[in-house]
Amino acid sequence: MTEARLALSGDGPLVVLTGAGMSAESGVPTFRDAHTGLWQRYDPAALATPEAWARDRDTVWAWYRWREHLVSGAEPNPGHLAVARAQADRDVVVVTQNVDDLHERAGSGSVHHVHGSLFAHRCDTCGASMDVGPPPAEPIDRLTPPVCGRCGGWSRPGVVWFGEMLPSQPWNAAVDAVTSAAVVLVVGTSGLVHPAASLPGLAVDARIPVVEVNPGPSGLGSDVSVYVRATAGQALPALLHP
Ligand code: APR
Repeated sequence: MTEARLALSGDGPLVVLTGAGMSAESGVPTFRDAHTGLWQRYDPAALATPEAWARDRDTVWAWYRWREHLVSGAEPNPGHLAVARAQADRDVVVVTQNVDDLHERAGSGSVHHVHGSLFAHRCDTCGASMDVGPPPAEPIDRLTPPVCGRCGGWSRPGVVWFGEMLPSQPWNAAVDAVTSAAVVLVVGTSGLVHPAASLPGLAVDARIPVVEVNPGPSGLGSDVSVYVRATAGQALPALLHP
């Protein structure tokens, strides 16, 4: 931890790159955990695709609304809160692969969702953002999404589906932030899903130190200058507010 604290101790720009492990201590069901009960018969990867949306929009919409409901019942953990507090004293940019809103609910601004957000609903045809109201409190196996008032398309989840391109604005902001940081802190990602997994390598190429917090192994390997074997909730308060 001392070495990690030292690496993070300057006052230059800090980028915090987070994955599903960041939200684990908040009890957010991972992409696959949301497959209990009603959803057991579905393969998550098969639902999170444009093909599933074209084939069975009402089932896909119902599953995402259920995931929204589950996330809304979760609370930011000490890791999210430590990152938000750090933003009060330092230039801190958050780049997350997570589609939940826990960084924002912890008080973080400047959060870039490179895989989109559960709560950024938009029209599947013209792309207009859509206000669809709160999700149902009970799991319902089929729901018809609202129709776009502008073009007659359907409201879709604001997440990046398998096979889709990442949204350019958050991706470009993530690359800019990582390559101009003083230090990059990577928390709770397996580092296996590209192109997000390539971000720490961009920092290394720019000779920017990378600190990783993860209780288990990840695919980041030699990209990491300092490794802290701990959970987000255990490590981040001590690392960011020594
Ligand atoms: N604190 C920190 N890290 C944790 C914790 C914790 N409490 N619990 C688990 N982890 C680590 C795991 O060891 C693992 O390395 O978090 C990582 C989670 O890895 P993944 O589940 O693969 O999540 P992520 O890396 O974010 O996946 C990338 O894949 O499922 C798709 O689009 C989805 O954005 C996601 C992408």
